[in-house]
Amino acid sequence: MSTVPVNKQLMVQAIRRQAKGICSYELVDPDGHALEPFEAGAHIDMHLPGGIVRSYSLAGDPKDQTHWLIGVLREPASRGGSLALHDKVRVGDVIEVSPARNAFSMSSNATHSILLAGGIGITPLKSMAHELVATGASFELHYCARGPGNVAFANELKALVPPERLHFHFDDGEPSKGLDIAALLNDPSPGTHLYYCGPSGFMNACAEASSLWANDTVHFEHFKAPESQPSDLPEGSFEVHLVKSGEVIHVGPDQTIVRAIELTGRRVPTSCLSGLCGACKVTYLDGEVDHRDYILNDDEKTHCLTVCVSRAKGKTLSLDL
Ligand code: FES
Repeated sequence: MSTVPVNKQLMVQAIRRQAKGICSYELVDPDGHALEPFEAGAHIDMHLPGGIVRSYSLAGDPKDQTHWLIGVLREPASRGGSLALHDKVRVGDVIEVSPARNAFSMSSNATHSILLAGGIGITPLKSMAHELVATGASFELHYCARGPGNVAFANELKALVPPERLHFHFDDGEPSKGLDIAALLNDPSPGTHLYYCGPSGFMNACAEASSLWANDTVHFEHFKAPESQPSDLPEGSFEVHLVKSGEVIHVGPDQTIVRAIELTGRRVPTSCLSGLCGACKVTYLDGEVDHRDYILNDDEKTHCLTVCVSRAKGKTLSLDL
């Protein structure tokens, strides 16, 4: 069983309105200790009022150990995480926060990087921009938003990214008036890597436009599961064999593997519980997997699964637990 990472208590040092409906939150150690550096693209889990746990990308400079920075869009129709932050969390509050974890890593092989952000999807890409500027790497950042009033971290981005590399695209709510993503990604140069994050329509457009790129040059992170979640599909029951402990667990038709394991008194690290973050990634040793996540690449799927949403295709699955 993998070790459950230790959470820490961090204090909200500052809350700033960044754009329409978007606030940033600066988190610091209450005793003034330095935070760990994190990898560009990483996220944290925040334990919010009401027992809600949500993942947020770190948007600050990965090398800055004085504070962690997140940006959050208030979404009244969401599952409540953004409302808890916007409506209940105030400066001075102390919040339980997980260690930073990265499921959206940058490649060290890129000769050029294209960062493509849709709306609040700018947050992990901003940390990547910090990294690329610090290393002197070649990159361009495209930030798609409804209008100037919807751009988060505008001043920081303008101060950080040279103007010839920073491109804002405004569509006034109609994607056809905004950036032509297909044209931008039409002709990938060798060595160019693509990173994108944004809402589902934007993600679909980026996926389609990059469909001919080499798999290992395209990197993306969903911050919300697409609306028709595969986990909504009917589910059959199966047995899970925990190879290290020797236990055999029954997973019922409406139960996740994580839940079935928890009912035995064991714990698997989890965060989003939606197949988005990779926190619950486990190696499987035998059986066929019905992958239902949005995070693992084809190579990882040959030996890993996310046990919060993925299931067995057959009657049994052996896990390295
Ligand atoms: S808990 Fe996030 S992918 Fe499973």
